[in-house]
Amino acid sequence: MLNVALPKGRLGNKVYNMLEAIGYECKEIMEDSRKLIFINENTGVKYFLVKPSDVAIYVEYGAADIGFVGKDILLEQSSDVYELLDLGLGKCKMAVASINDFRDDPKRPLRVATKFPNIARGYYDTKNREIEIIKLSGSIEIAPVLGLSDVIVDIVETGKTLIENGLSVVEDIVPISARMIANKSSYKFKEKEIEKIVTELKKGEYK
Ligand code: PRP
Repeated sequence: MLNVALPKGRLGNKVYNMLEAIGYECKEIMEDSRKLIFINENTGVKYFLVKPSDVAIYVEYGAADIGFVGKDILLEQSSDVYELLDLGLGKCKMAVASINDFRDDPKRPLRVATKFPNIARGYYDTKNREIEIIKLSGSIEIAPVLGLSDVIVDIVETGKTLIENGLSVVEDIVPISARMIANKSSYKFKEKEIEKIVTELKKGEYK
């Protein structure tokens, strides 16, 4: 049995369709229900639907053999897993943004609002810039508008949220996309099956 952690939502649905196309069918998953675990004995697959930010935790601890997760989450959590494939889905970037006329004052710590404190700290460490992190859970774009922070470190996809709130990108940090990950010991024991999935997904026209 191969245990697969899927992120609930749009990315999870896309990934499921890709896995179904290469033989890991489990039709029940597409039904409208509150179930979170789906098993298909015939195809030998067990899917778990989990919060996107928890996928790497299930995989790291071995509750799932493989999982599908955004690079942003992998970077933020420094997960101890193998990253096997860039799916090319969910492409966006991690960036620093602020109000359009923002000027950095190097004499004082930069106040950075973010959902990604580790990514933000790592980025400013490389620049030797002293910062103060303000950890938020969402709607990060509001912070510089209200004067809560100088800048934000956040995901930018279309850029629409920034524009509609009077912000713009100050610096790009890193490109982001969805990755297939594997538990390290699962990979040892199920290498053939896991590598088969990587090969099949690479072949597909999914991007
Ligand atoms: C993400 C991100 C930005 C937005 C960027 O938020 O935090 O707010 O998407 O997308 P855009 O560049 O296409 O406008 P999400 O939708 O995850 O909601 P959140 O604010 O609750 O984090």
